[in-house]
Amino acid sequence: MWVLGIETSCDETAAALVEDGTRIHSNVIADQADLHAPYGGVVPELAGRRHIEQIDRVIQQALTQANVSLSGIDLIAVTVGPGLIGSLLVGLNVARGLAYTLKIPLVPVNHLEGHLFSIFLQEKVEFPYLALSVSGGHTDLYRVDSIGHFSLLGRTRDDAAGEAFDKVAKMMGLGYPGGPVIEKTARGGNPATHQFPRPLLERDSLDFSFSGLKTSVRNLLIKREGGVVPWVSDADIAAGFQEAAVDVLVTKVLRACEQENLCRVVVTGGVAANGVLRERIQMRARERGIGVFIPQPVFCTDNAAMIACAGYFRFQENPDRQADVLYLDAQATLPVDG
Ligand code: KG4
Ligand code: ZN
Repeated sequence: MWVLGIETSCDETAAALVEDGTRIHSNVIADQADLHAPYGGVVPELAGRRHIEQIDRVIQQALTQANVSLSGIDLIAVTVGPGLIGSLLVGLNVARGLAYTLKIPLVPVNHLEGHLFSIFLQEKVEFPYLALSVSGGHTDLYRVDSIGHFSLLGRTRDDAAGEAFDKVAKMMGLGYPGGPVIEKTARGGNPATHQFPRPLLERDSLDFSFSGLKTSVRNLLIKREGGVVPWVSDADIAAGFQEAAVDVLVTKVLRACEQENLCRVVVTGGVAANGVLRERIQMRARERGIGVFIPQPVFCTDNAAMIACAGYFRFQENPDRQADVLYLDAQATLPVDG
């Protein structure tokens, strides 16, 4: 079964052709980093307009690269939320139009569920597993028992981890998106130059908090500007911040595995592209006999292949899940059900 996946929940316009849930024939992603960089974050109105300009070309490219025509598609899977409403509506309306014209089923996909199953594009992971979904919009820990059966164990109480990377980079004048640029800046730095806080680490809770960590970076920058700590470099700050964020994420993942008696972890979402996080979690989990599965970076950040994958498995599980193309709507807030 050939599935066209469409994803426009934030600032990536993406389309992919995936066969039987996991065989990727194309995975086209047009990002908008250049558009939002001057603002240090995504501007929703601009994002929606750019999706409109790009969606047609992106779908065309996905079809061409997969060497298939519209009539070769059996199913369309589209992100319906959570996300920026003006962005979601672009992908959704194109998907509705195509499904209606082609007379094929349309499956609504929760963006977060796409992240949770993105690992299947690469390898099979046995259920149950713990999933850390960590991006610019969410930092969640889920217990995943099977397709469609998840329980939320913890989430951020304020900023998402990726959002903290973005805001810290903005404060430091490093550009957008913050994750990759903080990681790069941190390479020459000493993370021990300044001891950053590890919020909520001491408690049993599996929730996260990153706003205090972000504020402590701001306070340090102010001190440095005032000449109090002139020896602290940008590289030291980036390294110290990254170290604290990674430490919190890894510690909570291991705590959740222990509490839930799980021996497999999937890490996904944009922040899972971070090399220090990838390396640290592998190392600390291995010491405890826990298997770690992380998609390659292109499947960690927003993409449509993961949407096609989740849509396919949902449809296999329950063909009634297909939507009424005339009435399907987008939702800015949408919890993962199950
Ligand atoms: O999953 P994603 O592409 O979009 C959302 O659903 O948010 O994640 C984007 C987020 C951004 O906040 C970005 O700064 C972060 O992921 N990110 C990283 C890295 N690459 C992307 N964070 C840390 N290190 C990275 N290498
Ligand atoms: Zn995402």
